[in-house]
Amino acid sequence: MCGIVGYIGTQAASSILIEGLKTLEYRGYDSAGVATVSEGKLQRTRAKGKLVNLQTKLEGLEDPSRLGIGHTRWATHGKPEEHNAHPHTDTKERIAVVQNGIIENYRELRAELKDKGHHFRSDTDTEVIPHLIAEYLENPLDESILTTQSELLEAIRQAVNRLQGAFALAIISIDFPDELIVVRQQAPLAIGFGQGEFFCASDTPAIMPYTQAVLTLENGEIARLTPMGVEVYDFPGHRLKKKPQTLNWNPIMVEKQGFKHFMLKEIYEQPGVVRTCLETYLDTAWEPNSGHSPIRLALPDALLNDLQHIQILACGTSWHASLVGKYLLEQVAGIPTVVQYASEFRYAPAPLMPNTLTIGVTQSGETADTLAALDMEQTRRLASGKAQYAPRMLGITNRMDSSLARLIPHIVGTMAGIEIGVAATKTFVAQLMAFYFLALELAYRRQSISLERIGEIIDGLRQLPAQLELVLESQERYVEELSHDFADTKDFIFIGRGINYPIALEGALKLKEISYIHAEGYPAGEMKHGPIALLDEKVPVVAIATKGTVYEKVLSNAQEAKARDARLIGVVPMNDVEAEETFDALLPVPDVDELLSPILTVVPVQLLSYHIAARRGLDVDQPRNLAKSVTVE
Ligand code: M6R
Repeated sequence: MCGIVGYIGTQAASSILIEGLKTLEYRGYDSAGVATVSEGKLQRTRAKGKLVNLQTKLEGLEDPSRLGIGHTRWATHGKPEEHNAHPHTDTKERIAVVQNGIIENYRELRAELKDKGHHFRSDTDTEVIPHLIAEYLENPLDESILTTQSELLEAIRQAVNRLQGAFALAIISIDFPDELIVVRQQAPLAIGFGQGEFFCASDTPAIMPYTQAVLTLENGEIARLTPMGVEVYDFPGHRLKKKPQTLNWNPIMVEKQGFKHFMLKEIYEQPGVVRTCLETYLDTAWEPNSGHSPIRLALPDALLNDLQHIQILACGTSWHASLVGKYLLEQVAGIPTVVQYASEFRYAPAPLMPNTLTIGVTQSGETADTLAALDMEQTRRLASGKAQYAPRMLGITNRMDSSLARLIPHIVGTMAGIEIGVAATKTFVAQLMAFYFLALELAYRRQSISLERIGEIIDGLRQLPAQLELVLESQERYVEELSHDFADTKDFIFIGRGINYPIALEGALKLKEISYIHAEGYPAGEMKHGPIALLDEKVPVVAIATKGTVYEKVLSNAQEAKARDARLIGVVPMNDVEAEETFDALLPVPDVDELLSPILTVVPVQLLSYHIAARRGLDVDQPRNLAKSVTVE
């Protein structure tokens, strides 16, 4: 989390930094700041709260500097106050640093630097970095400069070799007015190549308006940006040969396009996302007698054949999508599957199982917990040296330019387009689509279900875009009206079973994230084992009840809640008399194959959360305490 930007070139830096920070605010919005260098002065402006507060402070300030760095913060160490806002400086205020990540050994470094007379002004881990660089500028280690003549670069190189943790840095100094140094270690950082100007940022949308030529740094790399070009080194100091790639993203994709919030726009984009996934991964002409797989994931046999187990590692909404994935991989492809929180798995991995496919699911491709768990799993399987434990790794992500895509050899892209709302919506649906394709591909290979059944599922998938459009058209106004009833509601319960249990979890997470209402998702059959004690007339219950193996069971569980005076909202099949008799409010979806229902049932719970939060006047796209990309452990 946290977003960093930097600029060196021929234009005024500060407006480029602010425009860049606007696109990175999804990464954190506790405070923001910029620092620029010109005519021997370091000008630093910081403000608590959102970027708009920094913009207000900068209004009317003349700043012709052509070199600068900027930051938008998600607080880890130190409260979200101005004195903790980045950029941070050394004692003499000659070096300024912005950081994304965490310096784990900052306490020792701080104590060491204080002993040497450095004066600290913040509670952050970051502040040790400018002090350490200043220390190495004044007292360089007795090491030869391997391939560069830049004193600043060499001091930074020596400093970063002392840092433990995950960090991306951008650094400037009054004494080196033609240099912007950037560093990457387990936190994303991209460099944009313009004509006589260069950019850096935590994420490419900050660079896209200026150039599409982008180099993504790898872990353990330092780059020196000057008006003449970019030099890249590794931490030991060896010069590396690197070339930028051309991005094909379009800046228009990050506009609200008339919607009040990005989240609502992204909910409405879901039919299009499903269409794109179908066009990309499904053979549209496939029929059961085609003689080949209907799925075009382009994954090698060595990854998918003879699997005995699948383990999926993910966090948050991606973890919920993975639970739907587990249902599909077990029930359609017949492969035992476990889903683990990446943050838990990393420190308590299950004993190695043979012939296991490990899938990492992360929309951003940058979630530190997920990356670390996957890295650990890949490493321990390689270290086993045994063929049956060899790593078979697959990533599912929405960002083909992410750290995940560099860590894992095989990737399925979710094709959802950039998602700005902190609450994931369209990327969740796209992750589900990836799991449908993977389960069908494995089912075809293993013949776990008949070709006719595969054909039926594919026919159902093809109907989904139009059905999603119908749900959006028919429910938008009603859900908005319904949301008025929950102006003062403090608790919500979501229930579902089978393949729709993860949708209950996702509904509860969406509501918590953006409306700050306490919400729990339960498997409907578990309510009676304890949580039912929470119910009374003040606690609405949202039940996901679609036709299929557990429909009657969920209706009975809903009745049990109704008997405790709970107000019942049902995400139910259209025109279903039994549902009409059971629920107080209906959010109907087309009556589809139970296997495909999560793609439709998630939409009403997304809309409900959105409208409750919007009705309460909350900041839907940037909810408090959250960030879109969680790059710290
Ligand atoms: O980028 P990732 O999918 O790895 O992110 C995982 C979670 O941080 C994320 O899903 C989070 O729970 C979202 N805010 C959900 O809306």
